[in-house]
Amino acid sequence: MPNANFTSRTEETIQGLKESGQLKPFYDVASPMRAVVNIKGKGDVLVLCANNYLGLADHPEVIEAGIQGLRDYGAGTASVRFICGTLDCHRQLEDTIAKFVGTEASLTYVSCWNANEALFPTLVGPEDAILSDELNHASIIDGMKLMTKTVTKKVYKHSNLNQLEEQLRETLQHKCRWVVTDGVFSMEGDVAHLPELVELCNRYEAMLVVDDSHGIGVLGKTGRGTPEHFDLFGKIDVLTGTLGKALGGAAGGYIAASQRAIEVLEQRARPSLFSNALPATVAYSAKKAIEIVDAHPEIVAKLHGNVAKFRVGLKNLGFECTDSPTAIIPIMIGDEAEAIRKSKRLFEMGIMIIGFGFPVVPRGEARLRLQVSAALENEHVERALDAFAKL
Ligand SMILES: Cc1ncc(COP(=O)(O)O)c(C=O)c1O
Repeated sequence: MPNANFTSRTEETIQGLKESGQLKPFYDVASPMRAVVNIKGKGDVLVLCANNYLGLADHPEVIEAGIQGLRDYGAGTASVRFICGTLDCHRQLEDTIAKFVGTEASLTYVSCWNANEALFPTLVGPEDAILSDELNHASIIDGMKLMTKTVTKKVYKHSNLNQLEEQLRETLQHKCRWVVTDGVFSMEGDVAHLPELVELCNRYEAMLVVDDSHGIGVLGKTGRGTPEHFDLFGKIDVLTGTLGKALGGAAGGYIAASQRAIEVLEQRARPSLFSNALPATVAYSAKKAIEIVDAHPEIVAKLHGNVAKFRVGLKNLGFECTDSPTAIIPIMIGDEAEAIRKSKRLFEMGIMIIGFGFPVVPRGEARLRLQVSAALENEHVERALDAFAKL
């Protein structure tokens, strides 16, 4: 028998969202993720809100690799890695990731959310201090909540290097200082000031952690992410990232760092010890996706070209668009209900783009978040800009 208070609480939450126009619609997608997808009962729409930055989610070789993974290893080990063994495909994927992002080693998880939950409580010691950008992703914020209570935590204003330096000075007595930042900020679409962050971390002997979930596959000439964009490949202490966006779009995340840091994570991180490994099919398809990016930098170049077309096109239409090399273009609306209305209006015009409001972004800062993909052809870009002109 369900608890009556719980039943009325859930009822009130959903009714409240409906009445304020904040209830998010969920669309049932009836085709693979690609430039144009079929929405059950609604027809075909152009997707401008997927993390499918390189269009690899339905790449024939990625699909074939996933099928091969199932054939070679079945669904997986039906256990965690230290109990029933690590599959060869996990090791191969991890070597491929480490090479791709420029670290000694890497370790995979079922999501980057999971990777961030593994990283902070395991590697940050009880007498350490951690300094975090205020706009870091929710998985970093939640991952940090799992650290021992004695860790000193400070949050600096978004990309405010003066405040960060102050905090580095204030925490000089701590055993180890950590600075953590998104590489590309997921709601703003701006890039971390990586050269300055690396310089500060070197000067204050702090460890730098960069979550490059929206940078990997997107930034840099060869898609190696935010470090490559700034010519800092191989210079970041710890990188985390997702396999669920540009690199195949299925799921999975990684931590890339020194060999020893990875060994400590294997031995001590709770998600490593108490949760299953990535399914073999995903290990295969993600590895294939990285190999495709490596062999075809022209896909990354096409994405960069599409990003430029959208930024210029939207600016010409009078939308406020910041200069940024990333594939995330936020279009600020303000009111959440209005953002959802505009998103519905675009949907009626055959364009899928989602309105983001609280708690994903602060109240009053609702926006449409446009995400560009290499899967888009010129006619798609033109169709999308046409719809924005009508909006
Ligand atoms: C910066 C950042 N980190 C982590 C994640 C979580 O990635 P995953 O879907 O692999 O859990 C996201 C996803 O949106 C993200 O934007």
